[in-house]
Amino acid sequence: MPIVTKLWVTQLDHDVRDNSGTHPIEVRQIPTEQAIAQAAEMLSEGGLIAFPTETVYGLGASALDAHALTRVFEAKGRPQDNPLIAHISDLQQLGQIAQVPNTIAQRLMEAFWPGPLSILLPVLSNVPKILTAGLDYVAVRMPDHPLALALIAKAGMPIAAPSANVSGKPSPTTALHVVGDLAGRIDGILDGGSCEVGIESTVIEIVEDTIVILRPGKITRQDLLPYAKAVLFDPYLKQGIEAHTAMTPRAPGQKYRHYAPQGQLNVFFGESVHNVQSMMQSALIQAKQVGKKTAVLTLDAHVFTHADWQQQWGDEKAETLMQQLYGALRTCDDLRSEVIIAQGPPDDEQHHALINRLLKASGGNFITVS
Ligand code: TXA
Ligand code: MG
Repeated sequence: MPIVTKLWVTQLDHDVRDNSGTHPIEVRQIPTEQAIAQAAEMLSEGGLIAFPTETVYGLGASALDAHALTRVFEAKGRPQDNPLIAHISDLQQLGQIAQVPNTIAQRLMEAFWPGPLSILLPVLSNVPKILTAGLDYVAVRMPDHPLALALIAKAGMPIAAPSANVSGKPSPTTALHVVGDLAGRIDGILDGGSCEVGIESTVIEIVEDTIVILRPGKITRQDLLPYAKAVLFDPYLKQGIEAHTAMTPRAPGQKYRHYAPQGQLNVFFGESVHNVQSMMQSALIQAKQVGKKTAVLTLDAHVFTHADWQQQWGDEKAETLMQQLYGALRTCDDLRSEVIIAQGPPDDEQHHALINRLLKASGGNFITVS
């Protein structure tokens, strides 16, 4: 039996209201403070509440309640060997889950929190094993979003929150995305509009005086360099997708196909925009010839006449592309696109996280055009 999910809309979001009829949800339009109080109470009673962060929507549960955490894995259909990030609203809450951070971690917290940086810290023994999938470290971050901070503060405990999507699908960047994936499976959703960053946090571990990036995000290697002797990438991230099976990533989530639309995504890269676009055009015609429904994501206004649907998902600016990526992939799903042809961003440091997500979402279907 599905449960009825409460949807707190603090602003009148037409998108959500217009689509609410088809989902098991109860819309509550009340002042923000009341919505937060209701949601926080449900969290402290073991409930599952989705809430906005600056990166993507998270599916929150008490990080100290094993039963609630089990429900998170069930609601998402998430493999149990993939640990969750604990979210805090002030530094005192750290003491409930992790050992005192070392100097590098402390300096990073001062510099980047609240913000999209998750730091692995030695976990305390009282923390339920399911949170960390039995690992000795817990990933912690302080999200930079007023609703998230207010909710965690009101609940008064660290809140575990994976992205609020069904496992494998693109992460949600609006409340409506969460409704589509999880209505009927979770207790509530706090609507806070669109997420500003659009892709998940940078996940790091600190090994002596070196920082290792386990999952790239908006905070780049360059941003982290002043805080450690060296900043490296988990070697797993540098491999082509086909090499992945031979290695074990430090962040277990990196080994799963992720962020993926239903259709087959192909991403085209290359120095010459003209050559890239003509290859995209050929791929499109091929897909049409075998009767596939197609979608094209471009970086400029070039028109692909053979596409069933096309969207300029951004210009080359990494910020815009990150914000738009998951929404664009979800639109492809809504349109039941079978072949998605995307123009890839420049392969540089600013676009590194984006390329990591595209690699996962496409299952490694990268085509380089000379
Ligand atoms: O921006 C974000 O990080 C979002 C928002 C909601 O805060 N959350 C998020 O959570 O993306 P999730 O569960 O979708 O991804 C967490 C990633 C996974 O790749 C997981 O394997 C890794 O972080 N991770 C979590 N705890 C870990 C740990 N103790 N050791 C190694 N990797 C860990
Ligand atoms: Mg996720």
